[in-house]
Amino acid sequence: MAFNLLKGKRGIITGALDENSIAWKVALRAHEEGATFVLTNAPIAMRLGEINKLAEATNSKIIPADATSVEDLTKLYTESMEHLGGKIDFVLHSIGMSVNIRKNIPYTELNYEFYQKGIDVSALTLHKMLAVAHKLDALNEHASVVALSYIGAQRVYPFYTDMADIKAMLESIARTFGYHYGKSKKVRINTVSQSPTKTTAGGGIKGFTDFYDFAQMQSPLGNASAEDCANFCVALFSDLTKMVTMQNLYHDGGYSTTGVSSEQLEALQK
Ligand code: NAI
Repeated sequence: MAFNLLKGKRGIITGALDENSIAWKVALRAHEEGATFVLTNAPIAMRLGEINKLAEATNSKIIPADATSVEDLTKLYTESMEHLGGKIDFVLHSIGMSVNIRKNIPYTELNYEFYQKGIDVSALTLHKMLAVAHKLDALNEHASVVALSYIGAQRVYPFYTDMADIKAMLESIARTFGYHYGKSKKVRINTVSQSPTKTTAGGGIKGFTDFYDFAQMQSPLGNASAEDCANFCVALFSDLTKMVTMQNLYHDGGYSTTGVSSEQLEALQK
């Protein structure tokens, strides 16, 4: 069901790699709600070609950009404003990658080059996207920026290794930039802490399926799907959440405030 929540709004959506990506679902929902937007991803991800299908389905333009490059981001905002016909109302940061996780390197033995790469790609890209927008004055008043995070920023999940630290940094950037951008332009910035979700990034984590089931068992509402996450992001992009900023918002079916569920205890007794 669509409510025209984003009618007339212009956006930039990062991170749609394939149809499992959270950003893919956000793009579909934002389109249904009347938004126009540009899709962007790292040039290397373009080679997959899947994003073309999404661009067709949502009638949107693709502007490749490596989000670690200030030059690429400057081009992204400039061309997006030209193409969409004005300043931007919402931005989705849906970018995450850890080479240490991909290579199964334990937290106590992290490779520091990979660690820095992870920080650059998964956290500093948010700062860069905000700093470039600020410099170009590319965002409208009350624009909404959402970045995706995970509860590993607050609690230890051994398999999440360096991404735990990186997500903590991402959330901190959202808060701190949220202060500055709120003061100067009333732009709001939040992170959404999402349930484990079956995507390329999620599936790259060792033991992901077991952990997905564990979280499912712990959450009174079950794990939040990528589609549910898209609905929440659309709500955050809309004017209905105009005064929400500098928050890390749990979108996890109640997982984060449940100590233990009866199903988990029963499983232990077996
Ligand atoms: P995904 O693998 O579909 O998306 C990650 C995206 O980051 C890809 O599209 C990739 O091309 C893009 N990317 C990587 N390096 C880039 C760069 N240098 N410049 C521009 N884009 C780049 O996976 P998913 O799960 O949709 O991830 C989106 C976000 O959601 C990430 O921040 C992830 O950490 C977060 N998240 C995912 C959860 C999960 O269980 N899948 C749970 C909580 C948060």
